[in-house]
Amino acid sequence: MKRLLCAAVAALWFAAPAVAQDAALLERGRYLVEVTAACGNCHTPMGPQGPMPGRHLAGGAVFDEQPFRAVAPNITPDPETGIGRWTDAQVARAIREGIRPDGTLIGPPMPFAFYRGLSDRDLAAMVAYLRTVPPVRNATEKSVYRIPLPPAYGPPVASVPPPADNAVARGAYLAGPVAHCLECHTPMANGHSDMTRLGAGGMEFRGPWGVSVARNITPAGLGSWSDAEIEKAIREGVSKDGRQLFPPMAFWAYRTMSAGDMRDLIAYLRSMPAQR
Ligand code: HEC
Ligand code: HEC
Repeated sequence: MKRLLCAAVAALWFAAPAVAQDAALLERGRYLVEVTAACGNCHTPMGPQGPMPGRHLAGGAVFDEQPFRAVAPNITPDPETGIGRWTDAQVARAIREGIRPDGTLIGPPMPFAFYRGLSDRDLAAMVAYLRTVPPVRNATEKSVYRIPLPPAYGPPVASVPPPADNAVARGAYLAGPVAHCLECHTPMANGHSDMTRLGAGGMEFRGPWGVSVARNITPAGLGSWSDAEIEKAIREGVSKDGRQLFPPMAFWAYRTMSAGDMRDLIAYLRSMPAQR
């Protein structure tokens, strides 16, 4: 009996670090999906009061643009209408490379140019967390693309290390691959983000609010702002002049961004080359 107990205690002892690791991975995944990456900004349908209750990540939002009518799919674990039957590797490949299990390419506006840079660990954390969200049964329409999609967004991504351990590198990773701030805040040229004008703003977003125009977030735009003013814009959607900012920026999700991530993000924004 005593020996059995010892064995059980020993098993627990050895299992505990693994359980703690899983919990840490899940918490990281929750933070990424719900806060910094704000996947729900596209994958949760929005009502007049914001994200629709009971429809978390269940898809249905329509992006009606000239080149496409894209419909965000259901990414809950529902086996019939969501991604419940996909393996972890299939979900990971869909997010980072834009390829479905059947080999077809996932179209815009899912921001693949940036998601290709997601680190292996963050990608695994997102997948682990997506497995745990409540399944919602919601069949969504198929997207229609009036532009040809490329065969792929690039070669297969084998492995991505985490960003270098300094504030600017971590902030760049956050503003690019994770939160894709730069996708919305960089003007388009020939159907792609104009990487020579990173952060210059100018892209227009139409919605129930009318038209909002992404601002210049390089030092040419935010140079005279204090850190607290930048933080308030990101967390609360209130501009330096007190104006309430319109969607589609995901203030509602960024509200609970960690203090460390906020510091890194601001350090990066301040380090960007000024774009006029
Ligand atoms: C800017 C909007 C946008 C954001 C942000 C976004 N997605 Fe998507 N996503 C889409 C659209 C639109 C599609 C479908 C495109 C198509 O039909 O080809 C899609 C497709 C997918 C698919 C494929 C599902 C299927 O059934 O084909 C997965 C998985 C997915 N997204 C996961 C995520 C995750 C996880 C995040 C956050 C890290 C995220 N998306 C962020 C718009 C977005
Ligand atoms: C889905 C698109 C989108 C994403 C993602 C996004 N933004 Fe924005 N952002 C906008 C738009 C549009 C505005 C202007 C809204 C308005 O004027 O009402 C804006 C406004 C701002 C402002 C206020 C600037 C001013 O002059 O008032 C700041 C600062 C900002 N964004 C920084 C960020 C950062 C940092 C991130 C990433 C964490 C981010 N944005 C992600 C679209 C986006």
